[in-house]
Amino acid sequence: MSVAERFEELYGQAPEGVWAAPGRVNLIGEHTDYNDGFVMPFALPHTALAAVRRRDDGVLRLHSADIGDAPVSLDVDALAPGGPGAWTDYPAGVVWALRDAGHKVGGADIHIASTVPTGAGLSSSAALEVVTALALNDLYELGLERGKLARLCQRAENVYVGAPTGIMDQTASACCTDGHALFLDTRDLAQRQVPFDLAAEGMQLLVVDTRVKHSHSEGEYGKRRAGCEAGAAALGVSALRDVPFEGLSEALARLDDEEVRRLVRHIVTENRRVERVIELLSAGDVRAIGAVLVEGHASLRDDFRISCPELDLVVASAVDAGALGARMTGGGFGGSAIVLAEVDAVEAITKAVVAAFAGAGFSEPRVFAATPSPGARRVE
Ligand code: GLA
Repeated sequence: MSVAERFEELYGQAPEGVWAAPGRVNLIGEHTDYNDGFVMPFALPHTALAAVRRRDDGVLRLHSADIGDAPVSLDVDALAPGGPGAWTDYPAGVVWALRDAGHKVGGADIHIASTVPTGAGLSSSAALEVVTALALNDLYELGLERGKLARLCQRAENVYVGAPTGIMDQTASACCTDGHALFLDTRDLAQRQVPFDLAAEGMQLLVVDTRVKHSHSEGEYGKRRAGCEAGAAALGVSALRDVPFEGLSEALARLDDEEVRRLVRHIVTENRRVERVIELLSAGDVRAIGAVLVEGHASLRDDFRISCPELDLVVASAVDAGALGARMTGGGFGGSAIVLAEVDAVEAITKAVVAAFAGAGFSEPRVFAATPSPGARRVE
C-alpha cells in the first residue's frame, strides 16, 4: 500500500501531497559543525516519506508506519519543548519551531513511512524533521528557503527534543542534490555542491551499519561539545574553527588539559581533512581521499574518542581486504561506517567485514552501497 493510500485509510481523506526527505552519510568533517567548521555530507537514497493534509481546527495528528498504532493527536497551541521522548517529538517539534518563529502554521494530519535505518547514525531524525518542515512550508505557503527550514529543524531538535546537535544533518537532508556531496561552511552556512560520481570512476561507497544503536550517546555528545567550547574559550577564540592548522602546535602548547588538547587536535585536523578532500576531488584524485578517511577515523578513535570496537573493526577489516579507505560516520558510539572501494573489490571487502564481525562475536552488520541522492522534495 502506498503512503497516500495508507493516509486515506487512516484519516478518511486523501492527502494534499506526499513529500520525501533523505537520511545522510557524512563523507568527512565530523563534530566540526558545532565548532563553526566544515562538513561534507551527501544524501542517501533512503527517505522519510510524509503524506500530509492541512486541518483548520489546530489539531496535529501524527502516525508512523513503523509504530502501527492509532495516530497521536496533539493541540498545536499547546506544543512546548519537553515532549514525551517519542518519535512524534520530531515532527511536533518542527510545528512548534515554525510557530515559535512566527510562521502561520495550523493543524495537519501526517502519516510518515521511512526507510532510513534508525539509530544507525544516518540521520533518520533529521529526515523526519525536514520532511515535515518542507510539507508544511509548501502547504501553508510559508516561502521559507531550504537553509532556513534546516535551521528551524535544528531548533526543533535542540530545544524541543533537547539534543544539542549541530546544523549538518538537517542541512544535508534539506539541501543535498543528486550526484553531489554538499560542502557546508557551518559558520556562514555557505554551501557548495561538489560533484561526487564514484560510479564513473569505477568506485563505490559502502555504508556498514554496525547495528550498535547510538541512541544512548547523547550525554557523551554534549560532553564533547562542552569540551570543544572550553578549548575555544581557553584559546581566546569564538570557536575552534578559528585555530588554523598551521597554528595547531602552538595552540596545543597553550592548553594544559590533556582531554581538551585531544578534542582541539581532532577539530583542527578534521577541518583540514575536509579541505584536503575538496582539493583532491577538484584535482580528480578521488582514490586519494581513502587515506584521508582512514586518518579521520584514527582521529575520532584516539583523539575525539567516540568510536567503538565494532566501528574500528569495520575500518580495519575493510582496509585489510583492500578498501581504499574507511571511517566511522556521524555522531559515533555505534551507528555506521563508510568504506570507499573499487567496484571490483566490493564483494571481497563485504565478505571480509561480515566474517570479521562473526569472528568477533558481533551481530551481523548491514552493508549497502550508497550513491549521492537528491535532497528533500515533493514527490506527489
Ligand atoms: C550528529 C549531529 C551532527 C554532527 C554529527 C557529528 O549527527 O546531529 O550535528 O555533529 O553528529 O559530525
